[in-house]
Amino acid sequence: MTRNLVVVLLLGGALMQQTCAAMVCPGEIWPDDHGKHVQAHGGDILKLGDTYYWFGEYRSQENVRGKRYVGCYASKDLVNWQFRNEVIKSDAPFGIGPRWVLERPKVFYNKKTKKFVMYMHLDGPTNPDGGGSGYALAQVGVATCDTVDGDYTFVHNFRPLGQESRDIGQFIDDDGSAYLIFESRPTKGFFIAKLSEDYLDVEKEVCFIRAPLEGGALVHYDGLYYLIGSYMTGWAPNANQYATASRLEGPWSKFKDIALPEAKTYGSQSSMLVKVVGSKKTSVIFMGDIWKPRTQWDSRYLWMPLEIGGGKLWLPEPKPWTIDIQTGETSIP
Ligand code: GAL
Repeated sequence: MTRNLVVVLLLGGALMQQTCAAMVCPGEIWPDDHGKHVQAHGGDILKLGDTYYWFGEYRSQENVRGKRYVGCYASKDLVNWQFRNEVIKSDAPFGIGPRWVLERPKVFYNKKTKKFVMYMHLDGPTNPDGGGSGYALAQVGVATCDTVDGDYTFVHNFRPLGQESRDIGQFIDDDGSAYLIFESRPTKGFFIAKLSEDYLDVEKEVCFIRAPLEGGALVHYDGLYYLIGSYMTGWAPNANQYATASRLEGPWSKFKDIALPEAKTYGSQSSMLVKVVGSKKTSVIFMGDIWKPRTQWDSRYLWMPLEIGGGKLWLPEPKPWTIDIQTGETSIP
């Protein structure tokens, strides 16, 4: 390598580091306040007062084999994240066995019980000591805590509405009602289901959407519900899809591409849609995961403000961007 090229590369790296300290840089390492890459994959965002909490799969290289972890981070601006706690750091609960799976944790706050209630995709082989698929149980697990970032305690595990459930998504409507979205393979689609009053159970089917999709993410924007899902290609990216409805119960429109299909969602998979309601604008952020199946700890995030409105939704080409949390305005400098 020539000396000039080395200088250019070093300067480029330094510039990127500086840029990403003040902006969201899709696909890059996202350092927390300790300088470590955020471990909150397949995550969700919970807003309390003026603070955003980001929960997700904590897949650090230092994790102890057999244990599964959920990370919690806090931020006031969606850009700078402070590590709070490994809110779950556990061996297999409910006798599931060492080959267990904990994915896509989602935390709800129940105002009546004052409890934080976490749902997760909980899985493993049907026989705890046996072989076979590690995704055979197809359940949700529920864990609770008295504080947002404390140590969560497992409560129970079950198949919501008696159905197989794998990828889950979280949705809180403008009236505060809490819903779980879950993918059910035998019925070939998504369920949107209302949680019980204490949020500890999945109480009522609101809608079933027949579509071969998972990674369900939902937002209510300007009088319409927009639902995004990805095809079932495991860790490999595909062209994520969206549909709309004026009522959660449906009818839902046909599914359409959220970006040029050949871009395969820019290498990412849907996890969550976050609505930021500001004084000037309401922005909707697509939160996706760029999975690295062989080096999971290095999996990246693709967060981008969506172009959304009038029944249309589009994921623009990823570029570094900023958001003004007060006004809700986003910009790509
Ligand atoms: C994906 C799913 C991930 C994980 C993965 C395992 O389709 O969205 O959460 O379960 O499959 O292959």
